[in-house]
Amino acid sequence: MTKITYTSSSLDEESGARYEEALSTVERELLGKGYPMKIGGRDVLALEYEVRSPINMDIVVGRFQRGGRDEAVAALNSAVRAFDDWGRRDWRERAAIMRRVAEAVERRKFLIAAVMAYEVGKNRVEAVAEVNEALEAIRYYASLVEKEEGYVRRMAPGSPGEETWSVARPRGPWFVISPFNFPAMLGSGMVQGALITGNTVVWKPSEEASLTAHLMYEAYVEGGVPPGAINLLTGPGELYEDVIVGDRRVAGIAFTGSKDVGHHLYREFAARQPYPKPVVLETGSKNPTVVTAKADLAKAVEGVARAAFGYGGQKCSATSRLYVQEEVKDEFVEALAGYTRSLTVGDPRKDGVFMGPLINARAYTNFARNVQEGIAAGGRLVTGGRQLRDGWMSKGFYVEPTIMDGVPEGHYLFRDELFMPLLVVAPFRDLDDAIAKVNDTDYGLTAGIFSEDESEVREFMERVEFGVLYANRKGGATTGAWPGAQTFVGWKASGATGRGIGGPYYLFNFLQEQARTYVR
Ligand code: SER
Repeated sequence: MTKITYTSSSLDEESGARYEEALSTVERELLGKGYPMKIGGRDVLALEYEVRSPINMDIVVGRFQRGGRDEAVAALNSAVRAFDDWGRRDWRERAAIMRRVAEAVERRKFLIAAVMAYEVGKNRVEAVAEVNEALEAIRYYASLVEKEEGYVRRMAPGSPGEETWSVARPRGPWFVISPFNFPAMLGSGMVQGALITGNTVVWKPSEEASLTAHLMYEAYVEGGVPPGAINLLTGPGELYEDVIVGDRRVAGIAFTGSKDVGHHLYREFAARQPYPKPVVLETGSKNPTVVTAKADLAKAVEGVARAAFGYGGQKCSATSRLYVQEEVKDEFVEALAGYTRSLTVGDPRKDGVFMGPLINARAYTNFARNVQEGIAAGGRLVTGGRQLRDGWMSKGFYVEPTIMDGVPEGHYLFRDELFMPLLVVAPFRDLDDAIAKVNDTDYGLTAGIFSEDESEVREFMERVEFGVLYANRKGGATTGAWPGAQTFVGWKASGATGRGIGGPYYLFNFLQEQARTYVR
């Protein structure tokens, strides 16, 4: 097998310098400050809570506000009022504003990336890539609206003398609830999807990623979105839930996060609203990668390691179960383990670091527990398994990228989304067997295959019940979807509408069609 050298945890020289400068700005000007919520453009304070950095718990990221029912109602009032104006603006104007929002994000690119190191422990390459992805999404959605001419379409006359149109209309105020792991891309993607189509937004980012959300909020307002059309609440989501699901003025919910929370919101919203309303969900997964005996094993090693351990496995797209064909399994797993041991774990601000810390103490404790459970169930540690506590690392939540073999396939480590760098491996006999294992889950977000045999790849693509499929992707077996290229769409328990992020149909999640007939 060819030797693979991992080289991509560094930025180019100019970007590296700008990132370093942004780290200093964040330290000097942003860390440890108080951040209000934003309702109708006003600063709103409530009970304060402190957020510390997973890279070193001595660092205070900021002090944020824990609101409640009153703040949720105030934010919704603001979004309802703003809808009157924003919802009626011409699509050209909204698209132009979004292009200016993209410029405002671009101006903050390195600052946002540097904040992400402190706030969520993302390394410099992945953080800059994420802001680029957020930018790309904003521009892609603007270009969709322009290409579709605001989704206003002349139709055939129903009867002679009729002039008929199909017009897509916004629905009203939405709650947008976003996760910690892609705080710029996923938060902004949903916010943008709602706004560009003329809806208004109350945004509740993860309580672990509110500073990134603040910077994105600023960019939206700087770009020209009226402050009431975008409102920002912080703190735990439960505090706002009653209003989110129960207030009949809410037009829809866009949520990215865990399956349990997403499905709970879906059911509660259906139960408490007077009629069915849209819920746009992206709810994680348990993503498989298949490596057949016909794979280019070197390519597969790199693709699987990146997808399993990039950002510590804390991606909804991460590979977390690996199926390798019996006859190459030992050789492959050994090579994968060698490669995994060469990955650098450390301070994500530093050049060359592949994997930073886990997001919080709970994930850190769960990591150790999951490893223990895997061993207790008969699993064997191929590599990793330890929390890293030497020196300064004991102040953060650092763990080793970990591979386990021999865990029974019915075990929860094979079934539940764990959001950590813990990869479980199992053998398969033939492709039928592999595909059966891949599909034996309620989840359906991303899946990968490595095989140089086109008929195997074709078979996989046809029969796998997942929304985002990749063949032979060295840069990440199941990760790295890009707006306008790979629609990020969850099937089954991973999504709800079948119209994914960054894809040509996404914006229709936020629209409703209206048929207009004029008799001339
Ligand atoms: N694009 C990211 C991925 O596919 C998620 O937003 O990993």
